[in-house]
Amino acid sequence: MGRRQNRLALLACLALLSAPAYAGSFEEHLTVCSGCHGRDGTSIAPEIPRLAALDAEYIARQIGDFKTGKRKNAIMQAMVAALDGQAIEALAAHYSEQVAKPSDAAPGPAIERGRKIHHEGIVGSAVPSCSGCHGEDATGDAKYPRLAGQNAAYIQMQLAAFKNGDRTNDARGAMGAVAKRMQDDEMQAVAQYLNSLKQD
Ligand code: HEC
Ligand code: HEC
Repeated sequence: MGRRQNRLALLACLALLSAPAYAGSFEEHLTVCSGCHGRDGTSIAPEIPRLAALDAEYIARQIGDFKTGKRKNAIMQAMVAALDGQAIEALAAHYSEQVAKPSDAAPGPAIERGRKIHHEGIVGSAVPSCSGCHGEDATGDAKYPRLAGQNAAYIQMQLAAFKNGDRTNDARGAMGAVAKRMQDDEMQAVAQYLNSLKQD
């Protein structure tokens, strides 16, 4: 984990060095984002979320939450500090219009268990099905983000963040309530399954 954080911090420094200090053009902003999220929304590392085909409203809301500090992440808070409303809208539209590429990660051994959690939840610990909110095929919408094809490492990190209270920008604590009932191996299983979903 330490090595990952160091790598991310280095990427952030490089991106900030190339970031325009003034309100830049769409192209200039997109070049900065692309350093980590790719131009087509396929991110360059498993701990960085794929943005392709996420709902534009969801993307814009997350950027707004990073700006106000409602969602905390040192790298992303620095990245979006200079963006105005128009730039946020344009970047959100761009990434939402990209086609989500299927993950090239090798299928994990816990996919079957993850499939069951996604569709049925975990009865013993009152975890509701993910599909009830994020959709049967996990393609999501403005409120419930797309999870299909998302990087497994990122999904697991977010579930852990919702569980331990590092991420609290979910409306009415919906995800916190789900994640607090989940164990690490259950998070890993459902992350593997969601990552393996290939449809748009
Ligand atoms: C140095 C790498 C880096 C750069 C450059 C970067 N990001 Fe990020 N981005 C991240 C990381 C890491 C996360 C995950 C943050 C977390 O764990 O909460 C993230 C998260 C996000 C999210 C949340 C996605 C979700 O599924 O909730 C959005 C939206 C986003 N970034 C948009 C952008 C935009 C737009 C830009 C350009 C202005 C940008 N990012 C530049 C690394 C980067
Ligand atoms: C009651 C509705 C609800 C259920 C059930 C639910 N979620 Fe969520 N989930 C949400 C909401 C709302 C958000 C978006 C929070 C926000 O706007 O920042 C979210 C966000 C997430 C994110 C963050 C995605 C990103 O791009 O950053 C992950 C990962 C996630 N959910 C996984 C799951 C998994 C796995 C399950 C099943 C075990 C599940 N969710 C069940 C409501 C739900």
